[in-house]
Amino acid sequence: MVLPSRTFVVGVGPGDPELLTLRAARVLERSDVILHPGPRDDAGFAIEVVTPLLRPDQEVRGMALAMRRGRDDGSVGYDRVALALAGVARGGRTAAFLTEGDPMLFGTGASVAERLRALAPEVPVEIIPGVSALAAAAARLGWPLARKDEILTICPATYHAEQVGAILDRGGPVCWLKAADVLPTLVEELRRRGRLDRATLVERVGRPDERIFVDLAAALEEDLSYFTLILVR
Ligand SMILES: C[S@@+](CC[C@H](N)C(=O)[O-])C[C@H]1O[C@@H](n2cnc3c(N)ncnc32)[C@H](O)[C@@H]1O
Repeated sequence: MVLPSRTFVVGVGPGDPELLTLRAARVLERSDVILHPGPRDDAGFAIEVVTPLLRPDQEVRGMALAMRRGRDDGSVGYDRVALALAGVARGGRTAAFLTEGDPMLFGTGASVAERLRALAPEVPVEIIPGVSALAAAAARLGWPLARKDEILTICPATYHAEQVGAILDRGGPVCWLKAADVLPTLVEELRRRGRLDRATLVERVGRPDERIFVDLAAALEEDLSYFTLILVR
């Protein structure tokens, strides 16, 4: 038996509550239970974006999914979230799992939806797209991500530290996600190619504590968060 759509994976955008879509706001309004990847019920990147929209009668659960820097398939954590969503739906209530940016771009939400479909195929899940951090950073800087015939590379840098030079040599704009770990390599490879001035680092775009470094070398001294990306044109 297929239940009416009672589970949602919701992209909450990069951090600025004004970049939440109307659809996301409407789904949150009708959700009885809100799950999110944060370490506690009331703390985490995604839940902080939507907290002003929530009512006291809505239940909020932090699922403590670590934003790991290393290689890890995270499937145990995703199963836990998927089963929690299914449990709420089977009880006749509506549940939403929050994910930062867009769920389908390196998003935890995409994996949760996949596991939910596998573990509880009778529970329909709807994915609500969100504004990705890439789009928000490009808009903030006034740098098009790609135009005309350009090929945009989006690289989760943590996994490809040894290929930084080769990726730059392909040409075209590059967006480096999970960028903090590879910053020293990136600075060196860009400098070698005379392209250091073609890169900008954006941390926590859209948040009150957003930081932008047009001088990447200056950022080497900083303690950068996981929520850091670098655009190179
Ligand atoms: C696993 S990816 C998730 C991307 C997300 N689904 C999206 O659409 O933006 C996580 C990486 O996205 C980037 N990121 C996410 N939110 C960000 C923000 N507010 N500011 C800067 N970078 C961000 C960082 O590079 C971070 O390491």
